[in-house]
Amino acid sequence: MQQKIIILDFGSQTTQLIGRRVRELDTFCEILPYNKFPKDDASVIGVILSGSPYSVHDAEAFRTCLDDFVGRIPVLGICYGAQFIANEGGGRVEPAGTREYGRAHLQDIDLNDPLFRGFEPHSQVWMSHGDTITAIPAHCRPIASTTDVRFAAYASTTQPLWAVQFHPEVFHTVQGTQLLKNFVVDICGSRQEWSPASFVETTVQELKAQLGSDRVILGLSGGVDSSVCATLLARAIGNNLTCIFVDHGMLRKNEFQKVMQAYQGLGLNVVGVDASEKFFADLKGVTDPEEKRKIIGRDFVEVFNAEARKISDARWLAQGTIYPDRIESLSITGMVIKSHHNVGGLPKEMHLKLCEPLQWLFKDEVRRVGQELGMPERLIRRHPFPGPGLAVRILGDITPEKVRILQEADDIYIEHLHNYRCDDGEELYHKIWQAGAVLLSSIRSVGVMGDERTYEHPVALRAVTSTDAMTADWAHLPYDLLARVSNDIINRVKGVNRVCYDISSKPPSTIEWE
Ligand code: XMP
Repeated sequence: MQQKIIILDFGSQTTQLIGRRVRELDTFCEILPYNKFPKDDASVIGVILSGSPYSVHDAEAFRTCLDDFVGRIPVLGICYGAQFIANEGGGRVEPAGTREYGRAHLQDIDLNDPLFRGFEPHSQVWMSHGDTITAIPAHCRPIASTTDVRFAAYASTTQPLWAVQFHPEVFHTVQGTQLLKNFVVDICGSRQEWSPASFVETTVQELKAQLGSDRVILGLSGGVDSSVCATLLARAIGNNLTCIFVDHGMLRKNEFQKVMQAYQGLGLNVVGVDASEKFFADLKGVTDPEEKRKIIGRDFVEVFNAEARKISDARWLAQGTIYPDRIESLSITGMVIKSHHNVGGLPKEMHLKLCEPLQWLFKDEVRRVGQELGMPERLIRRHPFPGPGLAVRILGDITPEKVRILQEADDIYIEHLHNYRCDDGEELYHKIWQAGAVLLSSIRSVGVMGDERTYEHPVALRAVTSTDAMTADWAHLPYDLLARVSNDIINRVKGVNRVCYDISSKPPSTIEWE
């Protein structure tokens, strides 16, 4: 049976990071809402309680029933988790005199405690809390402090229970990974069997059992998630998977052909649909960004459905939903940060069941699974690309000519990013979360080419660094590269006479311009 760690989410911004750290220890974990501990699941080998934006004394603070797991399996409370356990167990939590935030150094560490195995005596940790624990439960003892925090860490003497007020999951806690390893591997007994290879092996078996000889449809976008999902499914059920790839005419230069070729090279059964005429016709004269998105979404569903209906014996719809999509939609604070971009509204009469084999993976794990499946590098390391494509990178109305101009400019830019090698030999493209060109087609500016006055559109270049697209910083691209890109675009792309570089972060800007 696959072992797992449960992370109960009390709403902290770093809960996902705890999950990632546990996965990096080759251990499967699930992040669940704070009050959804799976009591009857025998595969759970340990529980981690996350931090929270609340104080334990807030009326709306999240509470969980500790009796469900404390004393039965090892427990680690982090920050709010530590305070909650203290408060419930007869200890005391009070507002800290000064907000304890930032770097601190541990002292009085009990180096014999299994949680601190291998620790340096004054290891640096990261604190971030407004409350502090002033008394711990009677059955507990302190196992580390800092100058300001008496109970930086404590452990029970009667139960497998540990708690830390600092954040082991963040980078600034220097031995945080060691601490989590001590908990997950030594204390909980993880066999560290979770790997892309084991994932592929078990998932292919499960998919074979689940799908049998049923027919499955999947919408491909050319992106990493849907491509990996399709390849994994094809490994399990071969030609019983039919993929549908819709060309709305606003993909990158030659992208449809290139991606179709890559898919065919992978042995996928793909139906390519060129629906660009329909999209261009429906978008004619539309300038409002939201309206553009709505039209594209609606047309997409229509075209996809028309194809899907042809596969009348299909029983399943597969989607490349990944774990962060699910966590966001489960978000206990109720804030939807990014809306889901899956194929919606398939006709009800098709009665399709949903199959989402990547639903437990983080983005980098999806890429590693893609590698394991032998997919080409260019496909699995591609930057994210919005569903509505270049339509949201053309300010103003959309015409095939504008798309062509932007495709040319974008292609020059992206190729330069691939060709530029960083000091470590890696392509600059791979150091960046996402890059693309934007055509400011509602603006014209004056220029001079040869002896002639020009009056044409500017192109803006965008490149950002990010880990999850929720926040992003503009990438500090080298000037010499920007100079070459600008020069090439203006010289080679008719219709463009000016190139700007976008130096806005998200927030307050967004990654896409529309
Ligand atoms: P923003 O512009 O909101 O974008 O900062 C965040 C991330 O989402 C991508 N994006 C989309 N992806 N359909 C998609 O599949 C869409 O409609 C869409 N809009 C934005 C964007 O490229 C970035 O990675």
